[in-house]
Amino acid sequence: MNSKNKETLSSPGRFGFLTEPARSVLLILNFTIVFHNGEKPSRNLTVKKNMKPQLPDSRNENILIHVNGELLPREDAKISVFDSLVQGGDGVWEGLRVYNGKIFALDAHLDRLMDSAHAMAFANIPTREAVKKAIFETLEANGMRDGVHIRLTLSRGKKVTSSMDARVNQYGTTLIVIAEWKPPIYSKSGVRLITSAIRRNPPQCVDSKIHHNNLINNILAKIEANVAGVDDAIMLDIQGYVSETNATNIFLIKRGHILTSHADSCLPGITRGMVISIAREAGIPLTERNVSLTEVYTADEVFTTGTVGELSPVLEVDGRKIGDEDIGPVTTRLQKLYAERTANEGEPLP
Ligand SMILES: Cc1ncc(COP(=O)(O)O)c(C=O)c1O
Repeated sequence: MNSKNKETLSSPGRFGFLTEPARSVLLILNFTIVFHNGEKPSRNLTVKKNMKPQLPDSRNENILIHVNGELLPREDAKISVFDSLVQGGDGVWEGLRVYNGKIFALDAHLDRLMDSAHAMAFANIPTREAVKKAIFETLEANGMRDGVHIRLTLSRGKKVTSSMDARVNQYGTTLIVIAEWKPPIYSKSGVRLITSAIRRNPPQCVDSKIHHNNLINNILAKIEANVAGVDDAIMLDIQGYVSETNATNIFLIKRGHILTSHADSCLPGITRGMVISIAREAGIPLTERNVSLTEVYTADEVFTTGTVGELSPVLEVDGRKIGDEDIGPVTTRLQKLYAERTANEGEPLP
């Protein structure tokens, strides 16, 4: 703050007609304005203009992205500023993986995408065949057959004016297919978690059974994890039971018994569903019920599930070590059984 302003405001001078408390308020206001005008260094992380961003995988520099029927280089792949995604996060999405020439659980992901779009009352939802075609074309155009993650997004589409009102959507939905070279994102040796202060939405707020793009509460939870220097954050439900992490579902094992939260506030993850059926087929006892944080801290093993990271062992939660720090036997067994599925199942690419 500049010293001239400080003198003028903190001493009577030309503001002498004001009372002492009024001058103090003015001083604080002045400080705030100066702060927001940027004289103080910003604590935000920014990318400098013209600086080349570092991609996690440089092979993704020249990928083609499908936007409403067009395959475009990543820098040209854009949607309108009037799109419902920009206006209100009004979209639904899926994350899929390609293993060895096959898209894993494609039908389950398309079912969830269609159900989400229908629950959101989107008009002109593309057919499953049209969405599949867009995915296949994107993979083909990029020469991708393995080690790939697909982010599939369907928005309510472009509006004719800024608005929350779905009646001003006159163009039909917007479909985006981003396929990137991306191995499972979490370290094979395990992840560390904290518990977030942000609760997962209960169905009476926004139903997690809709896989929507309104991800602010998950993003805030992830920021807490970043600040704490760990991988992700556990989100509790509105009653204080464990729901899931900001990006994955969560399981724990106590004396050979697997526990996982009801899919009331968490996303009913496709990997979660698969792990439940794998465990049941393998004869490992599994119960879906309310799970408390104490049960997580004192579990023998904890792991998370999700398409983007598969099955990831959890080593630590809120500073408590989980089990004996090695990847536990039940987690290892389930990881192996899941890997057998991803190697053998899936929709073959044309
Ligand atoms: C909040 C959240 N939980 C869990 C998952 C895992 O779901 P899936 O196994 O279907 O990838 C996701 C994936 O999008 C997610 O966003």
